[in-house]
Amino acid sequence: MFLDELLQAFFNFVHPALRRIRPKPPNGRPPRAAKGVRSLEWKRKDLLGLEGLSAEEIHLILDTAESCKQIYEREIKKFPTLRGRTVVNLFYEPSTRTRTSFELAGKWMGADVINVSSSTSSVAKGESLRDTARTLEALGADVVVIRHSAAGAAHQLASEVRAAVINAGDGAHEHPTQGLLDLYTIRERKGRFAGLRVTIVGDILHSRVARSNIWGLRTLGAEVTVVGPPTLVPREITQLGVRATHDLEEALAGADVVNILRIQLERQKKGLFPSLREYARLYGITAEKLESAGEDVLIMHPGPANLGVEVSEEVARDPRSAISGQVQNGVAVRMALLYLLTGGRAQDAVLG
Ligand code: CP
Repeated sequence: MFLDELLQAFFNFVHPALRRIRPKPPNGRPPRAAKGVRSLEWKRKDLLGLEGLSAEEIHLILDTAESCKQIYEREIKKFPTLRGRTVVNLFYEPSTRTRTSFELAGKWMGADVINVSSSTSSVAKGESLRDTARTLEALGADVVVIRHSAAGAAHQLASEVRAAVINAGDGAHEHPTQGLLDLYTIRERKGRFAGLRVTIVGDILHSRVARSNIWGLRTLGAEVTVVGPPTLVPREITQLGVRATHDLEEALAGADVVNILRIQLERQKKGLFPSLREYARLYGITAEKLESAGEDVLIMHPGPANLGVEVSEEVARDPRSAISGQVQNGVAVRMALLYLLTGGRAQDAVLG
């Protein structure tokens, strides 16, 4: 291995044209260009939010996810790409989709995946986030995936550890991996972002999913409208470059994508609408209300969905609904992130 590196350094020095030749990856697989992947390389240590990510960085992740998605077609879903790496899922809030898909993503790529939840770890004994971070570092975590009720928790952790940190949702701030899988799903189904009319419906105030979607969609050139009851649509949201309204019919007219948010009762300190029944009547997405949207409107929901409240069962199961597809794409996107954040290059074969 050392000799390989020495020879590579020598060739790179004597002949600039050879600089594109890279040492073999640790598992010995020769690099192979992934179709459609750009030459940009991932430079960030962490993935904390979509705010500040460039369009090129977002497309780099989505292109890498596209390569990862080929794993779905394989009978044996196991590759050694991350062999010897340790991924820790540190979840201080409940999760089904995000935690499970990170676990699958890590395991399919050969990493050791450890799940730590606040109720079963020393967090329950009062251990601080800082001490938990140091413990995980000492145990050799390469990637820490954190979900926490406090906005900024992932940023704090990232500043405390050498491991790559992925924000799996911090309070009402950001949920970047959900944002990325939503962007992936939109790109897959609509093929473009520029000029695409995306309407985000519901509890904008408490939604980290909305914020990550808005950052990503605006960076990629989509037109975003947010709609919900006045108590759930903060005025400041327009500063992110979106149009805000309380008129659902108007917001749905001509929409290419409707992303329906979950009502986050757990984050509401006081009643922000009279009742769930009232919310469903005014803002719940039904087939009838969807008629004003584009005929081939893409229906999305990050889950878990309150069927019959923010979306009817009929709409959730409509052929235009991408809800199951979003969940599937979540694994590919998280595989891509684990790969890129552990030093993988997008233009090499991710799956071998
Ligand atoms: N969409 C989402 O974050 O789902 P979970 O809470 O199940 O992870």
